[in-house]
Amino acid sequence: MKIDNKYQNILNEAQPYLLGKPKAFENYNLSVFGKQFEETNLKSCLRVENSAFFNLVHRMDSLTFGHQGMGMDKWVFFDCSAMPAGIFGFGIPKEKAPEDFLNMLAVEEDYEGLIPISMYMAIPTTDRNRWFGHNLSSLNSFLGMKYPGLGLLTKAFACRVFGIHMCYGATQWGSSALEIHTQLSNMKLEAAHLPAHTHQNSLCYLSDYSEENILKALSGEKRIATKHDLLLNAKDLDRQKKLQQDIERGLKVEIAGRPIHEDHDIFYPINFVED
Ligand SMILES: CC(C)(COP(=O)(O)OP(=O)(O)OC[C@H]1O[C@@H](n2cnc3c(N)ncnc32)[C@H](O)[C@@H]1OP(=O)(O)O)[C@@H](O)C(=O)NCCC(=O)NCCS
Repeated sequence: MKIDNKYQNILNEAQPYLLGKPKAFENYNLSVFGKQFEETNLKSCLRVENSAFFNLVHRMDSLTFGHQGMGMDKWVFFDCSAMPAGIFGFGIPKEKAPEDFLNMLAVEEDYEGLIPISMYMAIPTTDRNRWFGHNLSSLNSFLGMKYPGLGLLTKAFACRVFGIHMCYGATQWGSSALEIHTQLSNMKLEAAHLPAHTHQNSLCYLSDYSEENILKALSGEKRIATKHDLLLNAKDLDRQKKLQQDIERGLKVEIAGRPIHEDHDIFYPINFVED
């Protein structure tokens, strides 16, 4: 199956990188959608020579998650991402990055390497080879929207690199990332209301990122739900709490397609599914 031109354009311009423990890279697919990792972009988090790159990736997290109160300390980056599984993303050569973008990322003048523009982090869980994805960042909006599709391509590509099939995640109702997660697959709700998380409008999900689903997601065709049992408003915390009670009583629930935007509201097509 052919991937849409906008993703192909990113693949033509950007380079994939991995930042982590080289031993782990031996388990990953280093050739995805016809794109190979360059040797220099397989970066060990244990080597001093990669510390400037590590800082840039960490800075990206501050830019994308800091204002949401979910930025990670550097030690969390190392202990909970780089070492256990590795960080995947796309980068561009320094000469292709605008000056103001380099300043915003706090790139040192004498730095000459790859400039990271996106990342995805996931860690394997002990639950039947399922993973937990815990960071998706794209700096597309900081680059004047020059790379439309960067967020989706980053997650899709990462799943193929890491060999992720079933994957948990947590996010917030109303997050623009739900555009990406629902484009990739239906999202089975493990929790529709999650007080254990940072924000009270959080949800937890499980999705199937088979190769087939990944390729369909990148085809350019939107995953629109054909039917729904409920249209859930992103702002309706009471309905999310009620849905959570139903889930705890045993109801199986999934988000069945892309969010629906009406005026200033976002609605999610929810289906109640047979086990
Ligand atoms: C969320 C994020 C990763 C999106 O990155 P991006 O590169 O802009 O995303 P993409 O271009 O791949 O967008 C994928 C789709 O979502 C749509 N989309 C993106 N942002 C949107 C928004 N704010 N409102 C509506 N649709 C949006 C795009 O139009 C695109 O639609 P298409 O498939 O019909 O073409 C990025 O904004 C980000 O890093 N945010 C901060 C960190 C964060 O919250 N991460 C998610 C944690 S779960």
